[in-house]
Amino acid sequence: MSDLKVAAARAALDQVRSGMRLGLGTGTTASEFVKLLGESMRNGVLKDIRCTSTSEQTEKVASEAGIPMFALADVAPLDLAVDGADEIDAKLRLIKGRGGALLREKIVEQQARRFIVIADESKIVERLGAGLLPVEVTPFAREVLTKRFAEMGLDPVLRMRDGSMRITDEGNVILDVRVPASKDIAQVVDEMRALAGVVETGFFPTEATEAVIAGAGGIRWMRR
Ligand code: 5RP
Repeated sequence: MSDLKVAAARAALDQVRSGMRLGLGTGTTASEFVKLLGESMRNGVLKDIRCTSTSEQTEKVASEAGIPMFALADVAPLDLAVDGADEIDAKLRLIKGRGGALLREKIVEQQARRFIVIADESKIVERLGAGLLPVEVTPFAREVLTKRFAEMGLDPVLRMRDGSMRITDEGNVILDVRVPASKDIAQVVDEMRALAGVVETGFFPTEATEAVIAGAGGIRWMRR
């Protein structure tokens, strides 16, 4: 599987040109892209690249790869963002955030002219929401929103890490919900977003412009 992640990352790297401003995603696949990018910058194939990150975690991977990083406002709008996804449907809608970076990811990716999703073929789904949908909420609203989501039939579970609540880079917590197969995910997201305290969800309906999917049979591009 990791060979496929590298293959997808390499195909996205082929789209990068010297002088570009880039948004770097979060997760194992995005990290492969960051490492390859660092290599191309170090050996001088790519020059004058300015990057911003979608998480503290990626910031660390990028600095280990020798990539200088900038604040989003200093480089936006971006020429290109490259990031992984948890689920991708045929309309290029995504679920993201199982790595916990959904809010910064959406902010950065909405600042990009192109957003290329990199993934192995296991991420392709027939029905978006087959797995968990991460929802970032303010700590103050955590308990009441947990109750409300349960009433909505969404089976919320508080994301934990090392025995404590997972706190996001923006200081919030994550409730992982399940969207019942009988419900339309876009409608459920609208209902959740109408509730104060819901900061963002991992549903990315329009952000991705392309996806590069690596499988046993090679690389396949999906375009909007
Ligand atoms: C992090 C994300 C990741 O892009 C997503 O979870 C995919 O990660 P991986 O490439 O490790 O499977 O949305 O918030």
